[in-house]
Amino acid sequence: MKVNSAISIFVGIVLGFGALGLAFYFHETHPETSPYIRGAELAHEAGCYTCHGTSVDDPRVNFRLRDSAWRSTEIATMWEEEHSASSMRTWVTHGVPERKRQSHQQLLLQMPAYGDDGHLSPDEIEDVVAWALIVGLRGFQGYDNREEDMPELSVADVAELEEAELFMLGDRLSRQQGCYQCHGELGQGGPGNLASFKGYIPGFQGTDFLDLTNNGDPAEIRHWIEHGRGKAIESGLLGGLAAGYFDRQAIPMPGYRELLSDAEIELLVAYLQWLNTRGPLSGEDVEALAKSLDESI
Ligand code: HEC
Ligand code: HEC
Repeated sequence: MKVNSAISIFVGIVLGFGALGLAFYFHETHPETSPYIRGAELAHEAGCYTCHGTSVDDPRVNFRLRDSAWRSTEIATMWEEEHSASSMRTWVTHGVPERKRQSHQQLLLQMPAYGDDGHLSPDEIEDVVAWALIVGLRGFQGYDNREEDMPELSVADVAELEEAELFMLGDRLSRQQGCYQCHGELGQGGPGNLASFKGYIPGFQGTDFLDLTNNGDPAEIRHWIEHGRGKAIESGLLGGLAAGYFDRQAIPMPGYRELLSDAEIELLVAYLQWLNTRGPLSGEDVEALAKSLDESI
């Protein structure tokens, strides 16, 4: 009897720890998403780039019926008009806004009404809207922040920046240094990364960022930017395990200590912390950021 109950207690403890371990593993490896990440996947599945080129340098063919003859034309990119979240939502939901319907019907290839036809749910459309507006900020919608010069800044200046300036300059420097190429536009989550712990490059918008930077600790963020790896994450119980993943992953983070001044690093630290407090960005959030950029550039 005694032996039996000792065995069941032992088995219970082992199962308990096993379940905890599994829960921890799934929590740690569960992919983090954002409207931008989900929107990019949906846009891929929905074939947006099949009909729309990725930029004006990537034109797509169409035909328009005019005076009973088919004439060759090009399909506008997704950013030809200046889009708000609401105008983007209208196009994706109804295929074309009412005021343009008649002219649109003269086209050989027409924009699908993804919402009205039930191919995308309202939530999915919100994700596509956020994705499209964020991609539009890469210069397609007229705010080409990357092309602007960085002003001379001191470390003390960075602490004095107002929110709109912090966004404008942080965004500009991130574009000029290629941070978004790996971490996603506006740090909303990056592409796949073979043999990395979670299988992709994390963004700056959510809990991945907090996990990797000791809860947004400025010294830790600075260490990542200067050396391309974290410090706290590599110490302690799980440190050795984490370090192994950093060494094996296909795309490692480069160190920027020789490329950036102290003030520029300080600016990026403040910008990333600020971006993280905004969380994953919705279409409306991006519209507001685009407006603040338009007013401050
Ligand atoms: C079958 C082809 C096709 C597909 C697929 C398609 N579109 Fe379109 N879309 C069009 C056409 C045609 C127009 C009208 C362009 C014009 O007037 O030249 C258009 C117009 C638009 C516009 C307005 C154009 C502008 O000037 O800004 C937006 C925004 C847009 N589409 C977004 C999307 C998104 C997002 C997706 C994917 C969810 C998508 N489209 C998929 C054909 C397509
Ligand atoms: C070539 C791709 C690449 C570029 C360019 C890049 N990073 Fe990274 N970054 C990574 C990878 C990979 C990681 C590690 C993620 C991991 O190991 O889980 C990382 C991690 C980080 C982290 C830790 C927290 C988090 O959310 O990822 C910060 C902070 C960071 N990078 C900031 C930047 C900044 C700022 C820039 C531009 C100055 C930049 N990175 C440019 C690939 C890149």
